[in-house]
Amino acid sequence: MSKIKRIGVMTGGGDCPGLNAVIRAVTKTAILKYGLEVVGIKHGYKGLYEGEKAFVPLTLHDVTGIIFKGGTILYSSNKDNLFDYTYIDKDGKQKRGDVSDVGVENLKKAGIDALIVIGGDGTLTSGRDFSRKGVKVIGVPKTIDNDLASTDTTFGYDTAVSIATEAIDRLRTTAESHSRIIVVEAMGRYAGWLALGAGIAGGADAILIPEIPYDIEVVAKALKHNRARGKNFAIVVVAEGAKSKDGDIVVSKVLENSPDPIRLGGVGELVAGQLEGLVGLEARATILGHVQRGGTPTANDRILSTRYGVAAVELLMQGKFGNMVALRGNEISYDSLENVIGELKNVNPNGELVNMARSIDICFGE
Ligand code: F6P
Repeated sequence: MSKIKRIGVMTGGGDCPGLNAVIRAVTKTAILKYGLEVVGIKHGYKGLYEGEKAFVPLTLHDVTGIIFKGGTILYSSNKDNLFDYTYIDKDGKQKRGDVSDVGVENLKKAGIDALIVIGGDGTLTSGRDFSRKGVKVIGVPKTIDNDLASTDTTFGYDTAVSIATEAIDRLRTTAESHSRIIVVEAMGRYAGWLALGAGIAGGADAILIPEIPYDIEVVAKALKHNRARGKNFAIVVVAEGAKSKDGDIVVSKVLENSPDPIRLGGVGELVAGQLEGLVGLEARATILGHVQRGGTPTANDRILSTRYGVAAVELLMQGKFGNMVALRGNEISYDSLENVIGELKNVNPNGELVNMARSIDICFGE
């Protein structure tokens, strides 16, 4: 028999649409199916360090009407790793070190028997490390980047692709009116899933992704070829992590206080400037940025988030701690947190999706 009576739930890392749908599913399953108490831990691991003041009971009322809301009612942080944490000690001095024991102690004090962590690579890595310390942890994979191994899809990705596709549809009409090249920069970190999905759905002429280093001359040639066929505008979707064959990724800022300090951005402007000169059409760059992470989740993401939330509680009740829920094909499954960390899932440059895009003349700059 499971001894679990009270569970904690937290959201960590960059937010994405669908987090609230998971929180709702966890809370409803825990309370209605198993009679558990649910405690929300605000601001991710920062809240775990702060303890009581960041712990809030979650009731059915609290999760009513949140399935369609973007963001997270528990707030998030993508800077706080309690195994390497910057904090102020008793004497008011700033220190850095492993304060994970404080987190474990705070869970004990609050009578929290198990923890559901909803997050990406960084959040789940800490989840694994707390699991190694004996905390009963279940992970739920989120990210618009869709780059987590051990799951076919993360929630948030479908929404981000839809938002980016809608943006491309809008940019296409103005590109056409003005005979311009519009370069659309999508997020995605070091994986090209988001740019690839939105580029295919948005009918892009070229898609540049980190997995296929591009030659700008090849992209220009493809656009000129289209021009010769009578298409006097172009849409080029560039992943923020894309890099040219002889260049490097473009970094927009380095956050000293973050466990994952590199923020990408700026390759869209670079590509637009180069293509303008090479193709002879005016070019503009649009950086979609955080708009891809905001607002209402799609129906698919709401369903996936709900499936993940319910499955997370089921795993806890079955005593299968130290695992992350996952989607394999169309089945909900799970895998050990030990296996899912550190390994990024990239686009296969010779996979079906890329080859399909090549078949319809989408240029990857190769
Ligand atoms: O991982 C999600 C993501 O949106 C990436 O696509 C992007 O590179 C990064 O987070 C942006 O981080 P921040 O919100 O710190 O600017």
